[in-house]
Amino acid sequence: MNQHTVIAVDGPAAAGKTSTSRALSDMFTLSYLESGRAYRTLAYEALAAGIRPDDRAAMTGLISTILQKNQSDTLFDPTRLRDSDLRTLDVSKAVSTVAKIPDLRSAITSLIHEWASHRPASIIEGRDIGTIVFPRAQIKFFLTACAEERATRRHRQEPGSVYETVLADVVRRDHEDTSREASPLRPAADSVVIDTSSLPLGQVIAMMSEVCRSAGMIEKRHTTGAAR
Ligand code: CDP
Repeated sequence: MNQHTVIAVDGPAAAGKTSTSRALSDMFTLSYLESGRAYRTLAYEALAAGIRPDDRAAMTGLISTILQKNQSDTLFDPTRLRDSDLRTLDVSKAVSTVAKIPDLRSAITSLIHEWASHRPASIIEGRDIGTIVFPRAQIKFFLTACAEERATRRHRQEPGSVYETVLADVVRRDHEDTSREASPLRPAADSVVIDTSSLPLGQVIAMMSEVCRSAGMIEKRHTTGAAR
């Protein structure tokens, strides 16, 4: 494996990217990055500042201001904003518009490159990691599942949510993410595509870890029982 190993995990909402990426990051000792957090954080900050997510100039101004005042990894920092604030319906609606702005995408791509350059091996989830951000990633996965199954999973994760509303959001974001001009969501030609619709999480992780082992990645040793 090269000095900087990158595993890209792309796919639509609630296809299992986060759970599987976290599991693999633990198994193979990889740094983990959730790139969607950067897009959601910008959408959240825009709404909080009264900026329209389709105001491209104001949105590029917003990211510059944030980066002037904070470290370069601030948009990925899981302690900056709570998940419950980033996963409201308003943020989910705004984020699709934010994610269409080419200048913002290039800025976030540079931030991801910067983040990965400080880590020997990482697993990064998103929509464009294997296609645009790291087209030469050593391993690429594209996880997918039918919209109804993904909405069922998201509905289960979000207590108080209404299934029909979650499904409508999943379908709308699928459409917006796949049809946008800048870095549309699609599997990289050399990605391992896994349809998780009828697969339990453990099986998906087993399939992905097998791909990693076949590519030469070494699993972390687990110590069980008393120390010897
Ligand atoms: O968790 P979920 O898959 O629902 O979404 P997310 O990863 O938090 O991403 C939220 C939104 O950010 C997506 O619907 C995309 O519009 C955008 N996004 C993107 O365009 N490119 C990425 N690499 C990651 C997210």
